[in-house]
Amino acid sequence: MEFTAIVDAKARHTAGCAVVGVYEEGDLGVAARQIDTQLAGSIGKLHAGGDFAGKLGDTLLLAEPAGAAAARVLLVGLGPRAGFGRKQYRKALQSTAQALGKTGAKDAVVYLALEAAADLDVYYRARAIAEVFCAQFYKIPDRKTGVKPKACRLSSVGVAAENARAAKAAGKGLKAGAAIGSGLALSRDLANLPPNICTPTYLGTRAQALAKDWPRIKTKVLDEIGIKALKMGAFLAVTQGSEQPPRLIVCEYRGAKKDAAPVCLIGKGITFDAGGISLKDPLAMDEMKFDMSGAASVLGTMRAIAELELPINLVVIIPTCENMPSGRAVKPSDIVTTMSGQTVEILNTDAEGRLILCDAITYSRRFNPAAVVDVATLTGACIIALGNHFSGLMSNNEALADALESAGLRADDRAWRLPVGEEYAEQLKSNFADIANIGGREGGACTAASYLWKFAKDLRWAHLDVAGTAWLGGSQKGSTGRPVPLLVDFLINRAHAK
Ligand code: BES
Ligand code: MN
Ligand code: ZN
Repeated sequence: MEFTAIVDAKARHTAGCAVVGVYEEGDLGVAARQIDTQLAGSIGKLHAGGDFAGKLGDTLLLAEPAGAAAARVLLVGLGPRAGFGRKQYRKALQSTAQALGKTGAKDAVVYLALEAAADLDVYYRARAIAEVFCAQFYKIPDRKTGVKPKACRLSSVGVAAENARAAKAAGKGLKAGAAIGSGLALSRDLANLPPNICTPTYLGTRAQALAKDWPRIKTKVLDEIGIKALKMGAFLAVTQGSEQPPRLIVCEYRGAKKDAAPVCLIGKGITFDAGGISLKDPLAMDEMKFDMSGAASVLGTMRAIAELELPINLVVIIPTCENMPSGRAVKPSDIVTTMSGQTVEILNTDAEGRLILCDAITYSRRFNPAAVVDVATLTGACIIALGNHFSGLMSNNEALADALESAGLRADDRAWRLPVGEEYAEQLKSNFADIANIGGREGGACTAASYLWKFAKDLRWAHLDVAGTAWLGGSQKGSTGRPVPLLVDFLINRAHAK
């Protein structure tokens, strides 16, 4: 889908569908007012006749309305004008995308970015259009053999801006939104794949393909021998019960000077989490194919950053393997030595994410990173704490935590700060090794993060627990691609590239 910013006055004649906003009480938005004049007041009459009340998210399609320049006019309800902010704006855009997808229009001009919404500048208003449209038109790459439903025809979306200056800002926003959209789609595609296809080896080849597509990306994939050479004893313990060989994927993007400290993003890449010898309950075990969502999201972010050519250095590190039971699998009470030298007593083999991540965090030190952010579907406890709305955010650095939190707010991909540190690390004491890999039921998300905190030490580090946000279950089952929007916004801001 192509997005272009256009100066309002030019746009009005070319649309296959014009999308205009209407507030409640028949209060017409900027473009609706103008089009209403062309239509001899018929939009206003719709309110009086009780046909369209401007309720947030309601839509009404007018086909070939007499007097209009566009073949179709789509009215979108914006709710009460006074309460029109970020959330309402995005909700209106979602309904717009859904309604447009059902029309035959090949191109549309969206006038909604002309509306003033609290705290949102033109850049953001345009970016949100591309973000929301891309997300709405995403299709799961399923393996259904029946007749495929007709693809949506819409291929070109114009976004009207007030003047040339606004159009320039909108253009930048659309570019960022489309990049977030393609990063999100990559992330969702990978996470949605079945685990017999999306193996550690497969993730490695997809990371190599990224390097082929984008000249600024270089990918290195280590196999078991390479991982052994690094002495990643905790990572190796998780993979040892599996028939699928593990991989350590390292993807480097260079957009700034060679010596500029990079941001390291680490993604948990468990392509299937059966729990190992501490075998999981069969109920919803299938969803453990999504346990590589962290890995998928950092690859998606990498893609978006490459598309935007951001002037930063970025390193993506993915430890990836399966967590399976077998005669060779790691056992509860086994003790292993991590890459950092600290020993770990593995009391529960299902707490495997922290085992592969602690070695990846240690590995990240060789890049002298400006910041390290790990992304993981780490704990069921995080879902109990925050549900499916917020990702858990833990950090040893206030500035970094603030930057991630506000990125989540801007990108509508929110994270909520949770505590981490010594108090919780106390729960991880072992009589037999430096640290145990579980710390009891209380504060499970925080003890897991505090295990990682023990390895991050002096690094500027943050952890995103996306167990509740990376995918949806039930009839909506599928990857959400979160936290790609948060991460890309965070990096755009770091690069001052708005
Ligand atoms: N991948 C799971 C966490 C998870 C569970 C995410 C359910 C989403 C839904 C992780 O590896 C795990 O098994 N964690 C255990 C830790 C426990 C053994 C301390 C958990 O949360 O139950
Ligand atoms: Mn597990
Ligand atoms: Zn897991």
